Amino acid sequence: MKNIVKMEFSAKLANVTFARASAAAFVLGLDLTINVINEIKTIVSEAVTNAIIHGYNQNEKKYVYLELCIDDNKLTIVVKDEGIGIENIEKAKEPLFTTKLQEERAGLGFTIMDIFSDEMEIQSSINEGTTVICTKILPL
Ligand SMILES: Nc1ncnc2c1ncn2[C@@H]1O[C@H](COP(=O)(O)OP(=O)(O)OP(=O)(O)O)[C@@H](O)[C@H]1O
Ligand SMILES: [Mg+2]
Repeated sequence: MKNIVKMEFSAKLANVTFARASAAAFVLGLDLTINVINEIKTIVSEAVTNAIIHGYNQNEKKYVYLELCIDDNKLTIVVKDEGIGIENIEKAKEPLFTTKLQEERAGLGFTIMDIFSDEMEIQSSINEGTTVICTKILPL
């Protein structure tokens, strides 16, 4: 049976911790290793941080949407913003590519999300926003 939670929260960096903890709480009953839980938390924090920092330029009046779904052993993490959008998705996925070099960003968020997921899909339109969908097969 599917289990789904959907939430929305202000685009404040303080809410990255809330999002990570929520994801960990969602999979709490599943008997996962600390490693797998840390991978899930990292996917969520990288995607939510991107939404806040890049999508919304930290405009705290905006909202980030997080959806978590477990269907049998498949976990789906969806992080959505209605921000500026990504001009070139292929380029954005390249390791070390960042548009915020002066703010000491490493350009590794998507690379890390991709490594920790079984599949990563990015949908984005300029001035409409970005949705990142990561799926992970859980070793249950
Ligand atoms: N939600 C988003 N909205 C708009 N642009 C985004 C979004 N997410 C990512 N990007 C763009 O994709 C680039 C690469 O993202 P990625 O997470 O890989 O690196 P980063 O955020 O720049 O650095 P790091 O994640 O290592 O701190 C960003 O620099 C930004 O230009
Ligand atoms: Mg990032």
